[in-house]
Amino acid sequence: MIPDLRIRLKIFRYNPERDAEPKYMEYEVEADPKESLLNLLLRIRDDIDPTFAFSYSCRRGVCGSCAVRVNGIPMLACQTTVEKVVATFGHEVVIEPLSVARVVRDLVIDSSSLWRRIISGIPIRLTRFERYVAPEVMDRDIALEIQRYRKCITCLACLDACPVYSLDPSRFRGPLAMRFIYRFVADPRDGLDRIREACRNGLYLCLVCDACTAVCYHGIEIGEAVVKMRMKAFEERLAPSRLVDALEGIKDESFGNPLWIPRDERSAWLEGLSPNRRGDVLIFAGCMASYVDRESVRALAKILEIAGIEYQVLGSDEYCCGMPLYLAGDLSGLRMVAEKNLKMIRGLNVRLVITPCPSCYRALKSVYPRIGIDLRSLGLEILHSTQFLYRLLNSGKLTIAKPIHMKLTYHDPCDLGRHEGVYREPRELLRAVGAELIEMKRWGPYARCCGAGGNLRIVDPELSVSIGITRLCEIPENVKIVVHACPTCRIQFSDAARKARLSIENISIQELLLKAILS
Ligand code: SF4
Ligand code: SF4
Ligand code: FES
Repeated sequence: MIPDLRIRLKIFRYNPERDAEPKYMEYEVEADPKESLLNLLLRIRDDIDPTFAFSYSCRRGVCGSCAVRVNGIPMLACQTTVEKVVATFGHEVVIEPLSVARVVRDLVIDSSSLWRRIISGIPIRLTRFERYVAPEVMDRDIALEIQRYRKCITCLACLDACPVYSLDPSRFRGPLAMRFIYRFVADPRDGLDRIREACRNGLYLCLVCDACTAVCYHGIEIGEAVVKMRMKAFEERLAPSRLVDALEGIKDESFGNPLWIPRDERSAWLEGLSPNRRGDVLIFAGCMASYVDRESVRALAKILEIAGIEYQVLGSDEYCCGMPLYLAGDLSGLRMVAEKNLKMIRGLNVRLVITPCPSCYRALKSVYPRIGIDLRSLGLEILHSTQFLYRLLNSGKLTIAKPIHMKLTYHDPCDLGRHEGVYREPRELLRAVGAELIEMKRWGPYARCCGAGGNLRIVDPELSVSIGITRLCEIPENVKIVVHACPTCRIQFSDAARKARLSIENISIQELLLKAILS
């Protein structure tokens, strides 16, 4: 028999008709680990405080009415076990209403008026449906695609988790609106210009960070729907002009990057380093590390040299991985750069590609195969630098000479964490160097995007950096160092800290490790 757990709940209580302001009340309860959080709330109401209000109906994950925030993360109370709550947050948790609508009482919010507001102005009928008179059979794949996006139970958890919606709901109508519009885009029975509608509702403001999917009970992939709609928008020349301009920089032979920096500067980070044509490891630097955050990739190369690993580089022949093109919906542009990179990599005779950039990692490993270019089918292994460095430490090729006994935090990049599931290796590296890792308010699968995702840094730099500032607010109070596994996140954090006048040191995980192994 599994022993009961003791759990302390700090619950938001507020009756707008009676209370001047909200308060938190604490309840300590014994709970069966397999019991749902909703059951705990019911027991508190029935056994301790009959005035406590919260919403629920089906208790089966169907009605979507029981979503609450648990330590800031939206979850369905009826589908979240006590065991999961304790494993994720420990034995003390704060339960609050979702942040996206007016509080009616305690954990109850005015969700129906919010839902109506979100879809207001969006036609909700399939416009060409009536024209079909004879029986029709829908293509199975199309039917499955529509079903994926119709599973929504309008629980509003995704809306609560969305960094863009929470900052600018008037320009970005959020994941719910994107899902709702895509459901029609995917349906051949609809004849309206839904893509323009998606653009009007902020299609290019989505970070494609998948924070919405992480909290969705059905795991509905709204970021993927956004990219699919952007593909159509790009074909219809609806992409924002400043984004199109940056993409031209990638496709231009003389540049090959979205920053419009000449190609020959791409190898500047290599000064003083010794790549070797005999090496069977390729460092794929990526644009941001090659041109802006050079120290992060230099540190990676230096560590490899210390470990006695011979490596090659593409230097100024390297092209952008194409991720900005993919995220913009420019598939032919993506194919062009992917083929160029493939040709270069093929000519090197390497067995392993490592990159310090999570977006390059995701592009080479997961996005290229979607357009029929699979580097792994050529016998190549693709790793993010944190994975490779962790491997080196474990194999004894690196030793920590000077442990770094500092308190620090780690920011999970969306492309590395949520998109590729790499959470453990960066944290193991930090432990190995002797650092005290204190997690940010939201971390792991629930980490907030730095604000640079989905090309937002290009499309709307001001909104992007404002989102970065909201992420800075999640740094633990007594921590002044943020460790990064992504050059773009690091630059974004630095820009946000400058704008917010915050004194934070942003360092790459490679530089930290290099400090620790140099005696
Ligand atoms: S992918 Fe990120 S920015 Fe886009 S809707 Fe989801 S949570 Fe919001
Ligand atoms: S998409 Fe998922 S998280 Fe968002 S409202 Fe629908 S079911 Fe809830
Ligand atoms: S009570 Fe219906 S989804 Fe939780």
